[in-house]
Amino acid sequence: MAARRLVAGNWKMFKTADAAVAFVDAFLPLLPMIPENIDIVLCPPFTALDAVARRLRGHDRVALGAQNMHWESSGAFTGEIAPPMLTDLGVRYVILGHSERRQYFGETDEAVCKKTIAALTHGLTPIVAVGETLAERDAGLAHERVVSQTRAALHGLAPDALAHVVLAYEPVWAIGTGRNCEALDADAIMQAIRTSMHGLTNVPILYGGSVKPENVPLYVAQPNIDGALVGGASLDPEGFANLLRAACEGRCDAV
Ligand code: PGA
Repeated sequence: MAARRLVAGNWKMFKTADAAVAFVDAFLPLLPMIPENIDIVLCPPFTALDAVARRLRGHDRVALGAQNMHWESSGAFTGEIAPPMLTDLGVRYVILGHSERRQYFGETDEAVCKKTIAALTHGLTPIVAVGETLAERDAGLAHERVVSQTRAALHGLAPDALAHVVLAYEPVWAIGTGRNCEALDADAIMQAIRTSMHGLTNVPILYGGSVKPENVPLYVAQPNIDGALVGGASLDPEGFANLLRAACEGRCDAV
């Protein structure tokens, strides 16, 4: 069980640069009420990364993440963003293989694997998302699906590289629906992910899918859950600060 919690806010396709800066200006004064042993990551859209990075300068407690990237370092890939473009802005994390990328943009396990390798090569921490659809769950295939996505995304990575990966279990049917996965159920799937490959024993695994201040303590109380990947509930500064505090409840004091 990891001593630290990690909570990443995935803003998806919300907030202009101005709105993102307004969030940061309202959020930074709330940091003193958030216990120290929680790592905080904000993942704005690409267009707001630079403005948010400038605003976060001197505030090391909040790390910057991107929501996607290409695996090549440069090239003729219209509309894509390369890893050095992110590191250049001070980005430290990148969400890869989010189900919305897989579902709406045809992202394959193979692409997620290439991106994961590229992230690690460029010193970015990949937050690799896996999760089953409702149809897969109903067919009793949830464990099998997430284990196969995990193995495919991390294929070929040596154990010392795996140590720099963060995983996120996000059941697709729980994202943005208000329908969250039971904490015990999520923990069992995350245990299956953890034991699916050598080298994942100590890798942080986040739960994602309709995480709110009210339910986050239930998730982080589970032995295999090290934090949360949060969409809708990360968009409001006070709400996100409350969620971060709740994510420490009963856990941070004990470490
Ligand atoms: P949600 O999104 O918290 O709005 O369900 C989670 C995610 O997509 O990462």
